[in-house]
Amino acid sequence: MKKLVIALDGPSGSGKSTVAKILSDKYDILYLDTGAMYRATALKALKLDIDTLDEKGVATFIDNIDLEIKYINKTQHTFLDGEDVSLKIREPHVSMAASNISSLKCVRLKMVEMQRKIAGDTACVLDGRDIGSYVLPNAPYKFYITASSTVRANRRVKELIERGFDVEFDKILAEIEQRDYNDKNRDFSPLVCPKDAVIVDTSDMTIEQVIETISSEIEKK
Ligand code: DC
Repeated sequence: MKKLVIALDGPSGSGKSTVAKILSDKYDILYLDTGAMYRATALKALKLDIDTLDEKGVATFIDNIDLEIKYINKTQHTFLDGEDVSLKIREPHVSMAASNISSLKCVRLKMVEMQRKIAGDTACVLDGRDIGSYVLPNAPYKFYITASSTVRANRRVKELIERGFDVEFDKILAEIEQRDYNDKNRDFSPLVCPKDAVIVDTSDMTIEQVIETISSEIEKK
């Protein structure tokens, strides 16, 4: 088997983070959730009252952003200006802000530089939108995890309700479709399915089936 570097890409809500956590435990490798970094950057812009699509405004802070990824009991925690914002970045209003800010080239260059440093030479699983296509193009194991937008919206509604948010299905579906559009249509490093990725459509699969499919691909190489 080659060194385990697993790139998981795909649209919002396709189940990448659940899959990544399980793979990280199963193979005892580092898990880097790259979306958390874009979310924290969006939170910084919101704190500074800078429009998340204003490239000039965002450029004023991006190079010096105090953003750190730490692993506590093997779990990723995201720190912004010294504060653990791991929960705050999951709030629904941060999702759209993250999608917007992630379209800016200055943001992507900074995040990708940090991601390559964190992944370094270690065995790891990364999830995001451009991992196999841009961040780690030489990753030996690439998967594109997807699901229909209705299935993804249903999953997101369930997750948000469990976390105490009051949400409407139609609004969440519209947001997911808008984020898909943003992620696939930005100019720099958009969401694409890497040519050499295995596509896993999770719409009608259980999480166990998804893990089984990915593990057997990994183990046969
Ligand atoms: O995976 P997520 O929903 O936490 O990601 C938040 C946003 O960040 C998402 O709208 C797209 C963006 N993102 C990105 O552009 N590239 C990545 N590698 C990870 C996330």
